[in-house]
Amino acid sequence: MKFSTPRGTKDILPAEIAQWNKIENTCRDLFKIFGYREIRTPIFEETALFSRSLGSTSDIVQKQLLNVATKKDRGYSLRPEATAVIVRAYLEHHLDKEESFVKLFYIGPMFRGERPQKGRLRQFHHIGVEAIGLTSPYLDAEIISLATQILDKLGLNGYQLKINSLGCAKDKEHFSNLLRDSLKAKVKNLCEDCRERFKKNIFRVLDCKQEGCRAVVSGLKLDGKYLCPDCQRYFIAVQENLKLLKVPFNINFTMVRGLDYYTQTIFEISHPDLGSQDALGAGGRYDNLVKELGGPSVGAIGFAFGFERLILVWGEKNPPMLPGPDLFIANLGKEAQEKAFLLLGDLRRTGISCEMDYSHSSLKSQMRQANDKKAKLVIILGEDEIKNQEVTLRDMSTGIQEKIKIKEIAEILKNKLGL
Ligand code: HAM
Repeated sequence: MKFSTPRGTKDILPAEIAQWNKIENTCRDLFKIFGYREIRTPIFEETALFSRSLGSTSDIVQKQLLNVATKKDRGYSLRPEATAVIVRAYLEHHLDKEESFVKLFYIGPMFRGERPQKGRLRQFHHIGVEAIGLTSPYLDAEIISLATQILDKLGLNGYQLKINSLGCAKDKEHFSNLLRDSLKAKVKNLCEDCRERFKKNIFRVLDCKQEGCRAVVSGLKLDGKYLCPDCQRYFIAVQENLKLLKVPFNINFTMVRGLDYYTQTIFEISHPDLGSQDALGAGGRYDNLVKELGGPSVGAIGFAFGFERLILVWGEKNPPMLPGPDLFIANLGKEAQEKAFLLLGDLRRTGISCEMDYSHSSLKSQMRQANDKKAKLVIILGEDEIKNQEVTLRDMSTGIQEKIKIKEIAEILKNKLGL
């Protein structure tokens, strides 16, 4: 019997790990510079946490939660996203008592029972940040600029940043009434799901990917007039700050995001190379969520990138690769093998990554192994070499060989490898 990965999941193979590490380390470096600290949370949580925060009528809660159940326990789901989870952890551990403004980052798998397609998986990974405890248009611009700096640092060009504001809770209500009025005459052109959404959660109509619904939405004349004067001022200040930071953006009044907790600034970064699932990452402000989940009334904002989507775009120019060892020790004869084994241990202790042959293969076969493993350097150790206390060192990229003294090996290798 043969097994394979469940539908919509992926193995991340050794050659791809280098790509993952590069992106993760780039993010980690920037998170540190911006003052974010790492947090790790369970991959499953109470289902009610998600219905309460993402919205019981959101697609994620309605259709995509993957439930975890044992014979005894029910009511748990694999996390579809981390924002609600981070707020849960922030409240549970009273992180606000340590600092009034808390900046956290996370990386880990998320789960949504979606129909898999390019860039859409059932298990995917988020790398994201949440800044809890402050409402300031400076922070909104700073966090958006952090997201774009990650892409810039990775050398990923051609992305587009869209921003919008949903305003405060009252504005959102005003916005939904406006939408209802404008869509009333067009309900018959919407898909079945959207006709339901029209009744229960009209914003979700704007997210629908069905062609008919997209055509209806693109015909709407939305202009952000639903914002109250305070929220309008706030949104303008965010835009001004983005300009100060030289972050190019477009305002998209039809962007509403698929999760209910958002208020005020929302944003999405898309890339044309991704096709229909074109969002690389997204985020926004959720000033009411902490209170909704039983905490104080504090503002918060965050974003998350979809790791697999970053890899899809960035990986085009940065293909998977298996990094080879610094050194391969080819050895010929019993005595040389023992010496090589000792040398292997000594060199590893000095920080040089090395491999050797344990199976008395021919020199030709050992050179082939070194080549297959992509070793940078090869040392050849045989009886003559032991007698003369000298080994042959071969640079695999140039093919140049030289004799070096056994006692000087570590020093010379470190020099050559720049260690
Ligand atoms: P989201 O837009 O649902 O936002 O997800 C963020 C990103 O995760 C998307 O832009 C996309 O790149 C990726 N993504 C989402 N679903 C999938 C999937 N099925 N397969 C592969 N990638 C996917 C959130 O989850 C919010 N928690 C972001 C946030 C943080 N807002 C505030 N703070």
